[in-house]
Amino acid sequence: SDKSNAPSQCLGPNYRAEGEKPTATVSKKVRHDNVHVLPQTPQLIALLTMIRDHRTNRADFIFYSNRIIRLLVEEGLNHLPVIQQEITTPVGRHYNGVKFEGKICGVSIMRAGESMEQGLRDCCRSVRIGKILIQRDEETSQPRLFYEKLPEDIKDRWVLLLDPMLATGGSALMAVEVLRQKGVPEDRILFLNLIASPEGADNFAEKFPKVRIVTAFIDEGLDEKNYIVPGLGDFGDRFYTL
Ligand code: URA
Repeated sequence: SDKSNAPSQCLGPNYRAEGEKPTATVSKKVRHDNVHVLPQTPQLIALLTMIRDHRTNRADFIFYSNRIIRLLVEEGLNHLPVIQQEITTPVGRHYNGVKFEGKICGVSIMRAGESMEQGLRDCCRSVRIGKILIQRDEETSQPRLFYEKLPEDIKDRWVLLLDPMLATGGSALMAVEVLRQKGVPEDRILFLNLIASPEGADNFAEKFPKVRIVTAFIDEGLDEKNYIVPGLGDFGDRFYTL
């Protein structure tokens, strides 16, 4: 039974009668045009169920996270511009197609964002990937930039910013500030994210209305330690160590 107030939705194709379909908690709705939540399909919900489950071991956590990351990257790429391209097929016929226009790069917010780099590489061969390390300053408890290594021509690229969990939004906001200072226009940044808190998504979308967020799920909220709930715990720990 679902004790939260998140919406429940019947899941599954039409070959099952409405009353026979399983229900599951699906993503909260968002009111910002720049936040794109993946379609809440049975596949996606099953993958999220695996990675949220505290019993899931590290190997499975990595495997199922990677499947969601792949969906996020594929959806993110749909937001990049294409131009028309007519080609000829081996049987001599023409096909009106498109091709990608413009250069891209990835930027991962360390450490958890690095888990998304392989998913990006699987879709975009030899993509350049930069890194940003932001940590909470012990004294001020504000996020602080510790390290960045970015492609030197980043201002001429579309940037896929990678961080799996959007909690308060502090790190992601600072990462966008860094990209802006390097000359990357806001509307050329796509933030790929697995699970966002409503307050994190709102914060981010209001501050940077032209940055597009592509996320798999908007969760219930944050707990007193700023963990996303119901969430999945610490993503970096589950992916890299536990
Ligand atoms: N980062 C995580 O890994 N998990 C959360 O719940 C919030 C931030």
